[in-house]
Amino acid sequence: MMPRVWTVTPEEFRVAAHQLIDWIADYRATVTQRPVRSEVAPGWVRDALGAPPPEAPEPFEDVLQDLRDVVVPGVTQTQAPGYFAWFPSNASLESVLGDMAASGLGALGITWQSAPALTEMEEVVTDWLRELCGLTDAWHGAIHDTASTACLVALLAARERATAISEDRGGLQAESAPLTVYASTQAHSSVAKGVLLAGFGRDNLRLVPVDSVTYAMDVTALRHMMADDVAAGRRPAAVVASLGTTGTTAFDDVMSITEVASAHGAWVHVDAAMAGSAMLLPECRTLFTGVEGADSFGWNPHKWMGTILDCSLLYVRDVELLIRVFSTNPSYLRAASDGEVTQYKDWGIPLGRRFRAMKLWFHLRLAGAEAIRARLRRDLANAQWLAQAADADGEWEVCAPVALQTVCLRHHPAGVTDPAALDRHQQEWAERINATGRAFVTPAQVEGRWLVRVSVGAEATELQDVAALWQLCRQSVHVASP
Ligand SMILES: Cc1ncc(COP(=O)(O)O)c(C=O)c1O
Repeated sequence: MMPRVWTVTPEEFRVAAHQLIDWIADYRATVTQRPVRSEVAPGWVRDALGAPPPEAPEPFEDVLQDLRDVVVPGVTQTQAPGYFAWFPSNASLESVLGDMAASGLGALGITWQSAPALTEMEEVVTDWLRELCGLTDAWHGAIHDTASTACLVALLAARERATAISEDRGGLQAESAPLTVYASTQAHSSVAKGVLLAGFGRDNLRLVPVDSVTYAMDVTALRHMMADDVAAGRRPAAVVASLGTTGTTAFDDVMSITEVASAHGAWVHVDAAMAGSAMLLPECRTLFTGVEGADSFGWNPHKWMGTILDCSLLYVRDVELLIRVFSTNPSYLRAASDGEVTQYKDWGIPLGRRFRAMKLWFHLRLAGAEAIRARLRRDLANAQWLAQAADADGEWEVCAPVALQTVCLRHHPAGVTDPAALDRHQQEWAERINATGRAFVTPAQVEGRWLVRVSVGAEATELQDVAALWQLCRQSVHVASP
């Protein structure tokens, strides 16, 4: 018998999808029953799943079984209330519905003509978020996969602006003077990666020192570094300002940075990957003062705001420049509507784009901005609660300003003064907490010192969960295993 060519009919899909939805709902309802950190050994998932490639269809139940038994233990439970690691990686169920709708639709996002709704919904939701964040309509937004890509796109545009579109000639290789890029020592590693990928070269990346208390970029040092580069015949092309650094959620002074950068015609990209969600709160907007003077601004709704990964916004002011740098126009993509419509393929790297706007559209419509704001405010208050509890305890140091929801802690055991021993101690107590399975925190090195980052902001995390974590912190520093 010939194998069936159309493998799953819409009717079969309906049955399986109902089962899958039940599975997702059950998974979310029972997420607290699992260790927050994945405890699988390297290779365990691969061994469990690595049967020969399936030649014949397998029952859906078998696939669900593996999802339950192998995949679930193989992921961090980022939706659990005890998740305080890296940064909030919320996947609101509203946005999950949108992601499913986008997958079900299977739209092809290569040009406006291939899916007008995909393009125009992206225009709508990026405008919604621009407005909700209090940004002016001078900004034009697009959705990228990640902040890393958004930063690369910004740096490519910066490179081309600085070289009067050198890509049309010999590219960077034909430039007479090296171009330099600046970011603070606390900037995310994706900034350095973007600098390398955009062809600037590591030798031309300047890591600007930070203030020892706020961890914000030292703008005076930036000014001197730029002047030194110009004196040496180099050309400052871009500065990446961080609003909400990964380590401590520090905020660079974008206003002063843009003043310094503009004297050299350098592009300013603002990376607010995690902290950008706070712009939804009018009372937090002073942290973002100066953003309007930048050339590009990126942040991830897929972090704290909770639109499921991947969903990263990049706003630029000069969209014509972007199109000049990124556009392609092969004959098979041309249509009568060209010239009247937005072609997102010309605003970044990929041609084929997913219907990412759908998850934002579902999330915002089903949750409403006010509920999202309320949750962010809850997290801000919970982080303050933890910082105050730690401050009030003489053995603990809150070692960076708590601007938003990240609390950086160091514990100081009586009599231990050796810096290396203190550093080891921080990593050890964090590991004891993580090993309990009840919570997950991240030790990190900031300006050479180890501390423990508590990133409050999982959708499910309430004050009682933060209080339980604080209890765990205090136990973990005093006994071998809490
Ligand atoms: C400040 C900052 N920038 C950029 C990134 C990279 O984000 P993405 O994973 O979207 O590339 C992160 C991730 O933690 C971040 O904290």
